[in-house]
Amino acid sequence: MQVRSYKTYLGYDLLSEYIQLSLLGEGGFGKVILAQHKATQLKVAIKLIDKQHLEKTFATCGETPQEVKLLKEVTASKCRNTLQLIDYSEDQDNHAIVTQYMPGLSLYDYVLELGVFPLSETRVTEIIRQIAEGIQDLHHLRIVHRDIKLGNILMSDMSANASACIADFGSATKLESPTDTLTWRIGTKGSIAPEIILGKPYSYGVDVWSLGALMHCLLFATYPFQEKNQSQKVQE
Ligand SMILES: Nc1ncnc2c1ncn2[C@@H]1O[C@H](COP(=O)(O)OP(=O)(O)OP(=O)(O)O)[C@@H](O)[C@H]1O
Ligand SMILES: [Mg+2]
Repeated sequence: MQVRSYKTYLGYDLLSEYIQLSLLGEGGFGKVILAQHKATQLKVAIKLIDKQHLEKTFATCGETPQEVKLLKEVTASKCRNTLQLIDYSEDQDNHAIVTQYMPGLSLYDYVLELGVFPLSETRVTEIIRQIAEGIQDLHHLRIVHRDIKLGNILMSDMSANASACIADFGSATKLESPTDTLTWRIGTKGSIAPEIILGKPYSYGVDVWSLGALMHCLLFATYPFQEKNQSQKVQE
């Protein structure tokens, strides 16, 4: 998919180029809408992020969100099995991130819709390999995703052999050097790595831990470590 130029100046009415069709999901910072580009008929997903909420959490002001910067880099670098950015704009209240539409929705929606959960070992191997390839390419760019979980993996369609891609770079960050470490406590309960919970310095390994937790979930229909408020976000 061709990525168009990024129109990041205030007031550009990006949404008027699209017909809004339905709500795809709602998350921590806003909502994701299925829309169709009027000129090309291309269906896309538009993630609208509430600026006030974002700036309170990340203590940034007026900046292009890290999520957009990273998606732009991931798209330009042709990372395997990662969500592709199409366009980005902002107005007074929201950031609008336009990405490719994934009709299989999240891996969570997919397994429920398929009605076969847990999945077979063969199928889990395919999905985990695709996500692992995506994580490998992200780590080559020194990007740590920090929130690998069912809701952040999107599926190409609802068929039994649909392919998976990594989405939601809202918790992701880029290391300054390959040996750099992080300390900010961020992730989702149930799949968050122990070094993050313990407040220890951490790095790429946290994504591998979360991938292991996700694999356990696909194989046994439950996360390996049961916690209260299992899907609650941690951001401290
Ligand atoms: N490109 C897309 N195609 C299809 N569905 C999507 C797409 N992007 C997001 N969704 C749906 O919207 C949901 C929320 O998207 P996303 O994870 O990016 O938002 P979020 O606000 O960061 O969510 P959370 O805070 O819950 O992690 C996804 O789980 C998925 O169901
Ligand atoms: Mg999400």
